[in-house]
Amino acid sequence: MKNLIDKLHQENFLSAEEFHRLLANRSQEDEEYARNLANQVRQQVHGNKIYVRGLIEFTNYCKNDCFYCGIRRSNREAQRYRLTEEDIMTCCAEGYELGFRTFVLQGGEDPFFTDEKIVHLIQEIKKKYPDCALTLSIGEKSEESYRAFREAGADRYLLRHETADPRHYRRLHPYEMSCEHRKNCLRTLKKLGFQTGAGFMVGSPLQTIDDLVEDFLFLKDLDPEMVGIGPFIPHKDTPFAEERRGRLEDTLFYLALLRLMLPHVLLPATTALGTIHPKGREMGVLSGANVVMPNLSPVSVRKKYMLYDGKICTGDESAQCRSCLSGRMQQIGCEIVTDRGDYKKK
Ligand code: SAM
Ligand code: FES
Repeated sequence: MKNLIDKLHQENFLSAEEFHRLLANRSQEDEEYARNLANQVRQQVHGNKIYVRGLIEFTNYCKNDCFYCGIRRSNREAQRYRLTEEDIMTCCAEGYELGFRTFVLQGGEDPFFTDEKIVHLIQEIKKKYPDCALTLSIGEKSEESYRAFREAGADRYLLRHETADPRHYRRLHPYEMSCEHRKNCLRTLKKLGFQTGAGFMVGSPLQTIDDLVEDFLFLKDLDPEMVGIGPFIPHKDTPFAEERRGRLEDTLFYLALLRLMLPHVLLPATTALGTIHPKGREMGVLSGANVVMPNLSPVSVRKKYMLYDGKICTGDESAQCRSCLSGRMQQIGCEIVTDRGDYKKK
């Protein structure tokens, strides 16, 4: 399979048949080969720089009911919260002090936060921190809403497609959601000039190799500036409570393939990866990832934004998380940089 890994490295592309062959037949040795190659590409393109994003989880109310997610609307056990504008500005102030130059506002799809409220928040943050990038991760909205957010100054948008296969999508989401709509949202975000992030869960229930092939081909076609992937991890109060979590080795291998396919992409070593293995994020970086996203949310709400069981960093202060990650990155010869860390054009 090394020939296919080399081909992906050289041509940044494989056909569906080639992806299928690689995913179905790779050995442990092939995985290691891909990871080392991806690590080299990361170093060639991005040096030893790791970009840092301050994640502010500002609401765990959600109108959606995704079967895998701990903050789905049907989970009556979830203790719901919303941060006020003042709370959010305090998180940004703390983050700025700690050297963050990107803030990510993430939340469930919470109708309380109308477009007007979001626009106002964007304007306030961008007015106070003009040297910072602002990323939104608040789900599926209309083109008008996305345009209003962009015009207010938001720079980036994260919306994982979760799975590119419509049949698989249907097994993970209730009927009112659709794969095509989510993909269209991503295309709209790109059109409006957002640095756009898509991505999928690794090892989500019923995921097949064909589904993964579609994920890679969809990402190649969309050509996003950011890709977020992480292992699926069950949450005890969801329909998928008894399902198996995604594998570490698979996640690292797919991170490596993404780096080889999209050499310039901003690719986080996710919290979910750090949750399934104590060195998961370090291994993610050594497999091609170049972004980390420590939590800036107030400690008082962190345990409530429980997307899956065992989520790490829910008891730590932002400063602790920041210095913990600096130390972790230093240990593997990398350095967290104080920089907006925008996508660099080829
Ligand atoms: N509501 C926004 C959205 O839909 O994009 C952002 C919040 S959503 C909770 C953020 C991401 O969490 C999802 O895109 C999904 O991939 C991930 N996630 C949710 N439940 C998960 C689980 N059980 N295991 C791993 N990742 C999960
Ligand atoms: Fe949060 Fe290590 S990153 S404590």
